[in-house]
Amino acid sequence: MVMQNKKELIEKLTGVHSSKKSYYVALKEKINELLQIKREWEVTFSAVTDLLVFINSDYEIQRVNKAAVDFFTTPESDLLGSKCYKLFYGREEKCSPCIGDQVLNTQKTSYLQSRTRYNRVLDIFAYPAFTEQNKPYGVTYYAKDVTRLIDSIKLASMGEMSAGVAHELNSPLTAIVGNSQLLLREASPDNPHYQLIKDIHTSGIRCQRIIKNLMTFSRQDEFTFEKIDLNTIVKSGLELAAYQIEKSKIDLVVDLYENVPALSGSGNGLEQIIVNLLLNAKDAVEEKMQTEKNGEKGIVTIKTRIHPDNEFAIVDVSDNGHGIEQEHVSQIFNPFYTTKSSGKGTGLGLSVSLGIAQAHGGFIDLDTTVGEGSTFSLILPLDQEAPVKNGTMKMQCD
Ligand SMILES: Nc1ncnc2c1ncn2[C@@H]1O[C@H](COP(=O)(O)OP(=O)(O)OP(=O)(O)O)[C@@H](O)[C@H]1O
Ligand SMILES: [Mg+2]
Repeated sequence: MVMQNKKELIEKLTGVHSSKKSYYVALKEKINELLQIKREWEVTFSAVTDLLVFINSDYEIQRVNKAAVDFFTTPESDLLGSKCYKLFYGREEKCSPCIGDQVLNTQKTSYLQSRTRYNRVLDIFAYPAFTEQNKPYGVTYYAKDVTRLIDSIKLASMGEMSAGVAHELNSPLTAIVGNSQLLLREASPDNPHYQLIKDIHTSGIRCQRIIKNLMTFSRQDEFTFEKIDLNTIVKSGLELAAYQIEKSKIDLVVDLYENVPALSGSGNGLEQIIVNLLLNAKDAVEEKMQTEKNGEKGIVTIKTRIHPDNEFAIVDVSDNGHGIEQEHVSQIFNPFYTTKSSGKGTGLGLSVSLGIAQAHGGFIDLDTTVGEGSTFSLILPLDQEAPVKNGTMKMQCD
């Protein structure tokens, strides 16, 4: 009986009614044909650069493509059999509502945009899979990572909002900084109010820096290109930041190379970078001194130099602060990335500074060691043309 079934099965599969030998040759050919079809499907499945995940009605993963394996950084063998809610969200329980249930119940395609594991936003399309009897038995998920798109839309609206706020705050701040400056000129340092006025002035300048970064980020700022002397820019940046550094009892070392050739750039833009880098250095040293309290003297150094091949002018801002973990290095230039407590940092300093440096045809390099400190180097090409014909600078901060 079993033999009879086997014979029938082989005949059905191969379509051959012949001797035993030709059965098996035909069977072998059929198997090869099936393997070829399987391979082709697998190649097609893997060629899709977005995620494909197939689950059964118990939410267990039955099949994944290469993009899904790469996305979840987990070997395929570990993914198969695990639950879809665990895979996508790291959950122990089924999602509520569950898009898979919805698809199985309605037998219709469904769509969901959701923030999943690793903080990634996925556009997820779910399609029902049917048996030969037209019964739904599983769900195919097609998921596309749209994090960048969503983040850029978010950044654009944040930019628009910041532009409005920055614009409104600019005028009252000019009055606060200007008037406190006048009072400081008139008051003698022994005046009991001198320190109070000085603090008002410094806080005003700090707010102006935040506003300036916000305006640059939202592209409300226009920088004019002219011939500039880098050391003069560094000195004016120091005028804005030195007081805050020294007030924090941090030594400030200034080492300016005398023969830096004049370069084409925006004095305001470059000064903004210098101030951002100096204040970051100050914060890093201050934080380290507060946490370690080992009596080590905090030092911030600013230095100008020329690259040995005479193609670049460089400003190095170094500190002996806490340094930056390797895993954070790739994030620190992202807008709104900050490790500082609220009220201490907006996370715009480096992203805006990098945008300004790039608009000058330059860049910002970083050398950092955890526990020892960091050096941020502003690298600007010498003998360059002003990047924008009409002499104004176009920013690129994102
Ligand atoms: N010199 C430095 N040493 C250690 N970490 C630094 C240094 N400079 C920057 N960072 C890290 O990079 C992050 C981003 O810096 P960024 O200047 O963009 O923003 P912020 O200083 O936090 O806020 P903001 O500059 O807008 O006030 C900081 O929060 C900090 O974690
Ligand atoms: Mg900063």
